[in-house]
Amino acid sequence: MPSGSDKIKKFYNLSIKERLALLGEEFGLSEEDLAVISGEAGLTSSDADHMIENVVGTFGLPLGIAQHFRINGRDVPIPMVVEEPSIVAGASFMAKLALSTGGFIAQASAPEMIGQIQVLDISDPSSARLRILSEQEALLSSTAEVDPVLKELGGGPRDLEVRLIKDSPIGEFLVIHLIYDVRDAMGANAVNTAVERLALQIERITGGRVLLRILSNLADRRTAISQVRIRTKDLAFGDFSGEEVRDGIIEAWAFAVSDPYRAATHNKGIMNGIDPIVIATGNDWRAIEAGAHAYAARNGKYTSLSTWHKDSEGNLVGKLEMPMAVGIIGGATRVHPAAKANLKLMGVKTAGELAEIIVSVGLAQNLAALRALATEGIQKGHMALHARQVAAAAGAKGAQIDRLAEKLVSDKMIRIDHAREILKKWS
Ligand code: MEV
Repeated sequence: MPSGSDKIKKFYNLSIKERLALLGEEFGLSEEDLAVISGEAGLTSSDADHMIENVVGTFGLPLGIAQHFRINGRDVPIPMVVEEPSIVAGASFMAKLALSTGGFIAQASAPEMIGQIQVLDISDPSSARLRILSEQEALLSSTAEVDPVLKELGGGPRDLEVRLIKDSPIGEFLVIHLIYDVRDAMGANAVNTAVERLALQIERITGGRVLLRILSNLADRRTAISQVRIRTKDLAFGDFSGEEVRDGIIEAWAFAVSDPYRAATHNKGIMNGIDPIVIATGNDWRAIEAGAHAYAARNGKYTSLSTWHKDSEGNLVGKLEMPMAVGIIGGATRVHPAAKANLKLMGVKTAGELAEIIVSVGLAQNLAALRALATEGIQKGHMALHARQVAAAAGAKGAQIDRLAEKLVSDKMIRIDHAREILKKWS
């Protein structure tokens, strides 16, 4: 799907069937993949019965494709599972603005997760810490044998860190961090197994009592960063000059940097771009949410996950860096038929590549929200999309939907009864 092609321009106006046919044609998806993506096939109740407990059915959500994303020089269709209008359109529009400067440049770090071991009842934490560090090599090499498949793939334990928590409601205790490279997995199972296996050795070395053995969702060693540059002239629209829009975006961002009340909403806007892909690929969106917000508060004050500034040429430059513990093997990514089809659609080969895509869409979504908020407000765009939904729900078909939606907006009455009245008059 080359960006800017005629086909892509029309994507929005195509029927669902035509959009699917286009995806099949452009990305080599089989009839079966398309049936899964369309929701006609896909996760059955009996599949679901093997995933969680007490299953009675499955729950559908809209799946849309955000367009125009060029990430590290590659054009990628973005599957987004989300119920909120404007998100897919907002991300696509910002991705289009970024095309003239080459799109998004993104990079994922090594896929290193942290597993935590809490050690209690230690009489001398400082010497226990030294004893663990002196046996570090042996501990790491025994942990390397826990998962032979991961070892074969080049993953496994990388490091041990020992932290002393001095001030807690139960007094002092030790925390050991096992740094564990999980390659293309999300890694929760691998890390949890590894820390559970280490527990006995840690008790022997420290003479203490191990209580918790669990991964940390503050995956601050497994981050992804994306950067985008937008030419000022591309930001101009309506009565707003490019400079006004650019400066407004930077001022809006400064609000989020300085105020946690605003930062929460600002970051929610980023997650509007992140979660839909995390869900579409069968990944754990609660883990990503937890990691994002903990990372946003890592310096003791909750703040913006993104940064925005103008470069020496006056272009708007945005950056987003955050934990991105997503996988492309294991768990629902390999069990959920739509997750598999969506990964195939994106042509993603590694978990790092998926992380780079996700963080780029988060940045685009942040830009869409700030651009709207710093200019006409978000309701105008929302209302135009909402009007289309109302027009369709009232029974308008094809080109009539847009015509009726425009009329509803200009009448400032986006209501189904009003839409039905107009349709009656037109018939
Ligand atoms: C709405 O879902 C998201 C926004 O509130 C984000 C923001 O305020 O930056 C528009």
